[in-house]
Amino acid sequence: MKILIIHGPNLNLLGKREPDQYGVLTLDQINKMILERAQKETVEVKIFQANSEGEIISEIHRAIGVFDGLVINPAAYTHTSIALRDALLAVELPTVEVHLSNIYQREEFRKQSMISDVAIGVISGFREQSYILGLEALIYYLKTLNPNP
Ligand code: DQA
Repeated sequence: MKILIIHGPNLNLLGKREPDQYGVLTLDQINKMILERAQKETVEVKIFQANSEGEIISEIHRAIGVFDGLVINPAAYTHTSIALRDALLAVELPTVEVHLSNIYQREEFRKQSMISDVAIGVISGFREQSYILGLEALIYYLKTLNPNP
């Protein structure tokens, strides 16, 4: 099983960026947690971060035929990017949307996601654990719920 993890814009600054919202761990520390859990689950994981929409979309395109599913924190593009939504629809890979903060407890503009209804599910509000829960949820889906194994 091969899973692609995508971190969107500004997440490279985790650790010093708004710790009240996003926690105190750096992206490297979170990535280490993800890789450790993937190893335990014996799944292969690639982790990708980009600040630009185009780079993220190209990475999603490259996932066709290579990965079984995606865990993505689209960050601010969650709320704005029809292009990102269309890329996910185009590649038809099961996708879990994750957020460190609970986007439904924050500003009105964050309550809208362009991604949620094309994802298989959403995990929001558990800080760095959102990625682990997202990874576990995707593995569960791929093993037991996937209609197109
Ligand atoms: C975020 C929430 C988004 O609203 C925000 O733009 C981010 C991070 C989160 O993980 O909580 O950059 O996706």
